Amino acid sequence: GELFLNGRYLPPEQATVSAFDRGFLFGEGIYEVWLVVGRRLVDLDSHLSRLDRSLRETGIPVPPERAALPTILAEIITRNAITDGFIYLQITSGAGERNFTGEASTRPTLLILAQEKDALAAPALQSGIAVDLVPDIRWLRRDIKTIMLLPQVMAKKAAMAHGRQDAIFYDSTGVTEGASANVFIVTAQGDVVTRALSHELLPGCTRNRVMILAREAGLTVREETITVDALLAAPEVFLTSATSLVMPVVRIGDSTIGNGQRGATTQRLQQLYLNYID
Ligand code: PDD
Repeated sequence: GELFLNGRYLPPEQATVSAFDRGFLFGEGIYEVWLVVGRRLVDLDSHLSRLDRSLRETGIPVPPERAALPTILAEIITRNAITDGFIYLQITSGAGERNFTGEASTRPTLLILAQEKDALAAPALQSGIAVDLVPDIRWLRRDIKTIMLLPQVMAKKAAMAHGRQDAIFYDSTGVTEGASANVFIVTAQGDVVTRALSHELLPGCTRNRVMILAREAGLTVREETITVDALLAAPEVFLTSATSLVMPVVRIGDSTIGNGQRGATTQRLQQLYLNYID
């Protein structure tokens, strides 16, 4: 396969980045992940809009390839013969001397990778997952999709060490989001609830799509604070992301959610989402 780095398609072993790259030195970078189903990028435009927003909010320069990105993404899928999988795209503010502010003329570093994987076949989509519930120690601009992922890496590694598959974050106001996904609950009345957008969480593209599909199906969707108590008492909990789709959560810490199995509304939303992407 080949990846795309700064204007060129390269075999992975030939792709190198400067030790002075500001992504490496300062974490000054942003990224996107697309789900690929049947060689097609799911929600191409909403991820591109979020990418543009992340660049704008951080001041990371727009790479010269921006207008050609849809073409380059399609080319990466072709060159790697991806049928079902993921595309990872990262932009950092490029390489320069090691100083905090950098130079305006620096060319941003653009990296695009492809990964073949049939996410729709994951057994966890049926069985659900167990997660840790941990304090959200991240910064206060979580709406920006930054590569500064140390808190997420720490939370996921700790969860794995506890025999769990993922983590959900909470702060003093309630549940924020998952370590790499948005959080939804289904209430006893069958309403679908997720936290309203703010600087405290990422505006997930899958979150948005699932909300649209749920409303089209006649479900009531509310954007509201979810307290930790409400999370643990919810009949159904699920996560949404490009990599986990609509993922049932059946255990949180030591609490069992519902009867410990994927709930009916979660299953319905999974089906609606699968119909949408397939
Ligand atoms: N993560 N919240 C966080 C903190 C995330 O990292 C992600 C995605 C989401 C869901 O966003 P979307 O539905 O647009 O994928 C929410 C990606 C998949 C990752 O880091 O690999």
